[in-house]
Amino acid sequence: MRKINLSVAFLFFMGLSYLQAQERIPQVEALLEKMTLEEKIGQLNLLTPGGGVATGSVVSEDVEAKIKAGQVGGVFGVSSPERVRQAQEIAVKNSRLGIPLLIGSDVIHGYKTTFPTPLGLSSSWDMELIKETAKVAAKEATADGINWNFSPMVDISRDPRWGRVAEGAGEDAYLGSQIAIAMVEGYQQDDLTQPQTMMATVKHLALYGAPEGGRDYNRVDMSRTKMFNEYLPPYKAAVDAGVGSVMTSFNDIDGVPASGNKWLLTDLLRERWGFDGFVVSDYTSVNEMIAHGMGDLQDVSAMALKAGLDMDMVGEGFLTTLKKSVDEGRVSEEEITTAARRILEAKHKLGLLDDPYRYSDASRPEKDILTAGNRQLARLAATQSFVLLKDHNQVLPVSKKAKIALIGPLADDQTNMLGTWAPTGDFKLSVPVLEGFKNVAPKAKITYAKGANITNDTAYAKKVNVFGPKVEISNRSPEKLLQEALKVAKAADVIVAVVGEASEMSGEAASRTNIQIPESQKRLIRELVATGKPVALVLMSGRPLDISEEMEMPLSILQVWHPGVEAGNAIADVVFGDVNPSGKLTMSWPRNVGQIPVYYGERITGRPAASEEFEKFKSNYLDVVNSPLLPFGYGLSYTSFEYGKSKASSENLRANEEIIISTTVTNTGKKVGKEVVQLYIHDKVRSLTPPKKQLIAFKKIELKPGESMTVEFPVTVEDLKFYNGSLEYVYEPGEFDFFVAGSSNSDFDGTFTVVE
Ligand code: BGC
Repeated sequence: MRKINLSVAFLFFMGLSYLQAQERIPQVEALLEKMTLEEKIGQLNLLTPGGGVATGSVVSEDVEAKIKAGQVGGVFGVSSPERVRQAQEIAVKNSRLGIPLLIGSDVIHGYKTTFPTPLGLSSSWDMELIKETAKVAAKEATADGINWNFSPMVDISRDPRWGRVAEGAGEDAYLGSQIAIAMVEGYQQDDLTQPQTMMATVKHLALYGAPEGGRDYNRVDMSRTKMFNEYLPPYKAAVDAGVGSVMTSFNDIDGVPASGNKWLLTDLLRERWGFDGFVVSDYTSVNEMIAHGMGDLQDVSAMALKAGLDMDMVGEGFLTTLKKSVDEGRVSEEEITTAARRILEAKHKLGLLDDPYRYSDASRPEKDILTAGNRQLARLAATQSFVLLKDHNQVLPVSKKAKIALIGPLADDQTNMLGTWAPTGDFKLSVPVLEGFKNVAPKAKITYAKGANITNDTAYAKKVNVFGPKVEISNRSPEKLLQEALKVAKAADVIVAVVGEASEMSGEAASRTNIQIPESQKRLIRELVATGKPVALVLMSGRPLDISEEMEMPLSILQVWHPGVEAGNAIADVVFGDVNPSGKLTMSWPRNVGQIPVYYGERITGRPAASEEFEKFKSNYLDVVNSPLLPFGYGLSYTSFEYGKSKASSENLRANEEIIISTTVTNTGKKVGKEVVQLYIHDKVRSLTPPKKQLIAFKKIELKPGESMTVEFPVTVEDLKFYNGSLEYVYEPGEFDFFVAGSSNSDFDGTFTVVE
């Protein structure tokens, strides 16, 4: 087999774009000419004056004095046109050179109009919708003075113990890349000087989603080929889409913390990928290199700068030590000028150097924030993110005239609806499920009971409640809560139980080793099922859960993540059937924690298990089968779809040619429905062990009852490329299997051959 080596052309191209990126901007150069070393170092300093959510133990002090002294390049945690104008005025009128500030924020899933958590949004598989949510987030955030966003988070993860899976797009590099592009395009659009657009930050470079044991901030260790093929593509996609900045991660890579990793920040990011924006650390991640064992503050700050890090978030190691390092010859002034140039170029791209008050228009918040249209989009986005996991006896959708027992600790809750990392949102604006049910089904007879606490464990609740009460343990005993619920349940036609995780049971520093529904709620579910009434679970979580027990029960399950500001209305839309669910999982759900990592794209071993039957001396477990409980790409609908056999337009594929892989999909049920049609391939022989299955394309379609559609996917050798053992991006001739289906759990039914 001959390998096609494109690396020379690739490197040439990248080298060229790297050179082009070096073009100087006169306005920036003129400023640099005037700047002292201290003022250049000042530009590398990012502070937060407090008032926002601090994600570390430090909050910056004396911010105003430092801005006046030219010691601050940007701030975050400051919002509203007035406050931002004030901050800019301090910088522009009171510092020697009057350089405006970058105004950052974590706008993760919407600004004030909170959309579903990103993992939920990814389950829509709808790139236009995702882009639209980012666009609206940018419009709202910029109306409130923000010009720089710490999103998208594109960390691939196969470990649902890690709480931050809620912030990403799941386990797959291809889907994750498409979502990264959609978000960067939504935030930045094509002109960053426009006041409705903000600069995006792709984070966290890199591999933050693969911490050992799923424990947040933990070490990461991974082969280069796995990195390049399975974890790096979404960051690269964001860079290719023109993302303005990159944030480093807390973990180490090959034993070197990301914030001080020259291979990562310079060799890979700038030289290989051609990135020409600036790199910001994560919250005190430069200082944390001391704990990693990299030296003292002066050592780690010099190391970070020399590695290619331009801006230091909160830790002030750059501010307090870089001058000394220059004096001692450990860092050159040129290196500091380079970093300062990148920060100033970002300000230039945003139009701030021409008009520092571009994002301080006091008339905008009222016009642009939380408009009816934005809330409508939040409601739509939420309905599109829901995944129907099971529909026993078609309990769902529920009739709008039914007598409904609405039960559960999340059924009349407001504090958890926005989900994790919604610091700019306001939970008081969110619609509880009970209210949504009344809005959408005013004729239904709805009775509510809490039924259980999210957890009965007060110590656990305390840990979850760091940002305010998310888990409220009732004064009434668990037994009393249960009896109240059973009374209500027995008098109803149907039970809808809203259960799951509090919002802060996932997210940052919220790893779990037991990812089941908490026992207090499991007990409630068992008792509700025992009434013999039809039961639908509305399941909220930031992550995939182990619901093996619930999947065995005679009930229906609608996974709704944390749906955002329109939670209750969106849930009601789907529960009552006004919207047919069409979301598909973007992470596999495990049968138990011991199976983790379990993901669809695993590479094949030398002793693969042929079936779910246990076989001695094969790669399987004694106590659980290999397949996940719920596979990647899975999700049901109120209607049903049938797939024909998939076909390739030609048996052979050559470079510069295209074949069409197609299949016919038919809506065989009784309702209009959307379906995510997915194309998977398998490279049968290649120089690196291939993944068992690999998603290379998808399309979301809508079909009326009885309607059929031929769905076509053009495929070229570009779609078949991977990074080989020398990290060259190549395809290799030979046979490829394929199938087109509604989930990753399907068998190959066609083959084509790549010929030279
Ligand atoms: C998180 C980042 C976030 C930053 C600033 C950190 O703890 O890891 O994702 O952007 O805080 O709020």
